[in-house]
Amino acid sequence: MFALTLGDLRGKILDCGGGPASFNAELSKRGGQVVSCDPIDEFEASDIARRIEETAPGILESTRRKLDNFIWTELGLPERLAQLRRATMRDFLEDFPSGLAEGRYRVAELPELPFCDGDFEMALCSHFLFTYSNLLDAKFHVDCIRELCRVAREARIFPLVPQFGAERSERLKPVLNQLARSGYGCEIVRVPYQFQKGGNEMLRVSHR
Ligand SMILES: C[S@@+](CC[C@H](N)C(=O)[O-])C[C@H]1O[C@@H](n2cnc3c(N)ncnc32)[C@H](O)[C@@H]1O
Repeated sequence: MFALTLGDLRGKILDCGGGPASFNAELSKRGGQVVSCDPIDEFEASDIARRIEETAPGILESTRRKLDNFIWTELGLPERLAQLRRATMRDFLEDFPSGLAEGRYRVAELPELPFCDGDFEMALCSHFLFTYSNLLDAKFHVDCIRELCRVAREARIFPLVPQFGAERSERLKPVLNQLARSGYGCEIVRVPYQFQKGGNEMLRVSHR
């Protein structure tokens, strides 16, 4: 999703809006330095697990309805996707209590993060900005990306298509214009991963 190199993984990484995914668990196991933050981190692992079970059927159903907007060559069926997501979430849930105690998971939400300027080499944000373009306006996107660039030298956002959509979010152009006007360097980069059709691009943003 982020075309990360081994060099990128040596720096301290912020996984913003990390949710119930396994990035932190996996990278920490390999000795990487990573902090994930998300508003859901205020809940107990058991509450997060229950919420995941409650929402999974709805997401599966929406995916089935928009089947053609996804590429199924690797996964085959939506049911396989659901299985894979469950396994990822289990890795998160196992890691969450110890990670919370170690400060690897933090309760925080954009557009204001509880970190100091330049705390991280890189801030990653997947499936939140641009994904929920129907709910989050352009100003919110710009404020969030500025904040990610405050706490990290570089921000990467993936994907640039809305949830269940197959084309670049309508938020992208105004957000890029505003960031460029404020002196940020923005680059749209094609990445090897693609599951959503059109979802093979990330946005890299840094101070010029
Ligand atoms: C669809 S999930 C993506 C999780 C993970 N990044 C991934 O790609 O699988 C979106 C996440 O954004 C989190 N979120 C919602 N509002 C947020 C905010 N204001 N700041 C940061 N994260 C937020 C949600 O709690 C949820 O975990």
